[in-house]
Amino acid sequence: MAKLDILIAPHPTLKTVAKPVPVVDDRLYGLSQDMLQSMYDAKGIGLAAPQIGVSERLIVMDLAGKDEPPDPKVIINPELLSQSADLAEYEEGCLSFPDQFAKVVRPAACTVRYTTLERETVTVEADGITAVCLQHEIDHLNGILFTDHLSALRRNMLMRRLAKWKKANAA
Ligand code: NI
Repeated sequence: MAKLDILIAPHPTLKTVAKPVPVVDDRLYGLSQDMLQSMYDAKGIGLAAPQIGVSERLIVMDLAGKDEPPDPKVIINPELLSQSADLAEYEEGCLSFPDQFAKVVRPAACTVRYTTLERETVTVEADGITAVCLQHEIDHLNGILFTDHLSALRRNMLMRRLAKWKKANAA
C-alpha cells in the first residue's frame, strides 16, 4: 500500500468541489485502502479524497473506539439527504490542519445515502460523532473546511497557529 501525502491548508484542491466517483473498480479499491492506511498513520478518524489531492467524492472513516476492533468505512458519492434542526457543538480537528482544534456547531443529526465498495447503496441516520464526522467529510467534497464554520476572528487565529506549526515542522 502506498502512503499518501495529506495536503495541509491552505491549498486550492481543498477548496475545490470534487467530482463524482465514476465507477467503483480496482483503482477505487486501491485508492480507498491507501487512504485508510494514511488516515490510520496520521491518527485520524476521517479522510476525504481531496485531502490527498484527488478531487473525487470519496471518504474513508473509522470511528471505532480505542478498545474496539477497527471499523473501516469507505463512503462513495455520499448525498446528504437531511439535517436536523437541532444543533450540536463538537471540538473538531482535521488532518489538513495538524494540531489545530476548534468548536464547530452543526446539525446534531443527519441522513446520508452513499455507495459502498461492494457497490451497494446504503442509507444511514447518524447522530453524535458519526454525524459530526460525516458532515465534516462531506463538506470536504464541497470545498468547505471546518474553519469555514468559524467566525473570521477565530479562523484567523487558527490559521496563524497553523502557520507557526508549519514553520516549526518545516525542518
Ligand atoms: Ni477534515
